[in-house]
Amino acid sequence: MYRTHTCGQLRIADAGQKVTLAGWVQKARKLGGMTFIDLRDRYGITQLVTEEDPGVGREWVIRITGEVVERQSRNPKMPTGDIEVKIEKLTVLNKAQTPPFTIEEVSDGGEDIRAKYRYLDLRRAPLQRALALRHRLAQEVRTYLDGQGFMEIETPYLIKSTPEGARDFVVPSRMNPGEFYALPQSPQTFKQLLMVAGYDRYFQIVRCFRDEDLRADRQPEFTQIDCEMSFVEQEDVLDTFEGMMRSMFKNALGVDIPDPLPRMSWNDAMDNYGSDKPDVRFEMKIHEISDLVKGCGFSVFDGSEYIGAISVPGCAEYTRKQLDELTEWVKRPQVGAKGLVYIKMNADGTVKSSIDKFYTPEQLKAVADALQAKAGDLILVLCGPKRKTQTQLGVLRIEMGNRLGLRDPKVFAPLWIVDFPLLEWDDETQRFYAMHHPFTSPKPEHEKWFYSDKKEDLERVCANAYDFVLNGTELGGGSIRIHNADMQSRMFEVLGISREEAEYKFGFIINAFKFGAPPHGGLAFGFDRICALFGGQETIRDYIAFPKNNQGRDVMIESPSKIDQVQMDELCLQSTIK
Ligand code: AMO
Repeated sequence: MYRTHTCGQLRIADAGQKVTLAGWVQKARKLGGMTFIDLRDRYGITQLVTEEDPGVGREWVIRITGEVVERQSRNPKMPTGDIEVKIEKLTVLNKAQTPPFTIEEVSDGGEDIRAKYRYLDLRRAPLQRALALRHRLAQEVRTYLDGQGFMEIETPYLIKSTPEGARDFVVPSRMNPGEFYALPQSPQTFKQLLMVAGYDRYFQIVRCFRDEDLRADRQPEFTQIDCEMSFVEQEDVLDTFEGMMRSMFKNALGVDIPDPLPRMSWNDAMDNYGSDKPDVRFEMKIHEISDLVKGCGFSVFDGSEYIGAISVPGCAEYTRKQLDELTEWVKRPQVGAKGLVYIKMNADGTVKSSIDKFYTPEQLKAVADALQAKAGDLILVLCGPKRKTQTQLGVLRIEMGNRLGLRDPKVFAPLWIVDFPLLEWDDETQRFYAMHHPFTSPKPEHEKWFYSDKKEDLERVCANAYDFVLNGTELGGGSIRIHNADMQSRMFEVLGISREEAEYKFGFIINAFKFGAPPHGGLAFGFDRICALFGGQETIRDYIAFPKNNQGRDVMIESPSKIDQVQMDELCLQSTIK
């Protein structure tokens, strides 16, 4: 046997046993005449001890045989902390260069150097825990869905543009010069074709590719738990996947989530939280105060479509400097407000605000009452176009939640957002866009408006669409689809997609719908996001073995990179980049 135990396995009950271990030298330190070595593998660390100079350095790979003995000074922080192994024989399996950073729970290496040597960073316990959680969750998903009769079916990666709304990554075809494949932004069209083909419960843990600006919770290639079902209504889909999330929470974290999960309409989410992915771990809801403050001679409010406010608990003591800083903060392009009005509910019962000139204390009190603000609270007010201002208030709410420590990553508040608008009007291009994607169906009771030519009617149409939201992050989303070729054509028409363009891009699926497509619907979860949030983190990078940086680069393998002329010629490509 190469090794009898792992480095995380030995306990006091093993004392006296002769064992063989193999692993990496995390640390070797001399103390008196003795040398202590921390030997590491992915299961843990075991302390080794020897009276001879072992002559090993950090990250050398060694194999030792020796006796398990009780430690003189036990370390209660380590599972193996009661014992050590007295080395009788040590074999160096491989030497190592001194690593560029410490490979311990907390490393001294910066992000860039750790990314370059990702395989060394992956030796660290926090990353090993992250990948172990990811593995556990993937197993849970498969077990649950298999138990519900779902089949895991793979779909191709070399395809044609998908309708998720980001930019495609494209791959040139050598055998078809001048033509390109697109990598899937999701398997959306294929899973719908599988429904036409009769595979009524499909899932896949699948890589998706989107060329979009990167953020903490966005990678250019990421993984979805992609699912589709036939002969279902929205309720069946929500029920099935609530069950999946419930079993993941229970079995991976030991957390019980509410049964059934709360649901919120898109409209309520926007009105109360200024976001379609509300963090409901804390209150601080948005209130419209237009009726209370308009028409009092303050021209900024009088000229605004909407005036809204949040009441921030315990912040009335904010100083002038802090309020100025907060005003600058909301004016940053990322938030985009024009200015910030405050009303301080002082502890002594008085009210002080930046708009004292225009309002009587009674009028300001009425605002406070509408917000149920208490003494000690700070009311923050923004104004402008309705949805835009609500969104800004939503961003401010999250910021204040962060500042007040109200967003505890160990508290989980999942919910469904439902009743999304089907369409979104874009002023710039003067056309409608699908809020979800063009295969999402309108609610049956709104079909009359869907076939109307009036913009106001089309804006009222709600979709059979839903999002799964956890702690302010959209973890998943889906819809009941259009399964009828005529309705699909109408959708393309509403979106201003010509018959020719629809035929060119999606002819295959429109055609498939003519051959007996069953009613169907589904959703997809962002698996990397689930892993990160379950692990208590906001960034998904540590839950992906080999992620890209914010420039979309893998600095370890130095990709993307140029290709040589032979490859360019084979692909009939000419570089135009100077
Ligand atoms: P959607 O575009 O909402 O829906 O994607 C589903 C989920 O995938 C995750 N996600 C991402 N995660 C990491 N990096 C990214 N760049 C990224 N983009 C999306 C999110 C999101 O909720 N085909 C539809 C689903 C359906 O209708 O069935 C789709 O892809 O967590």
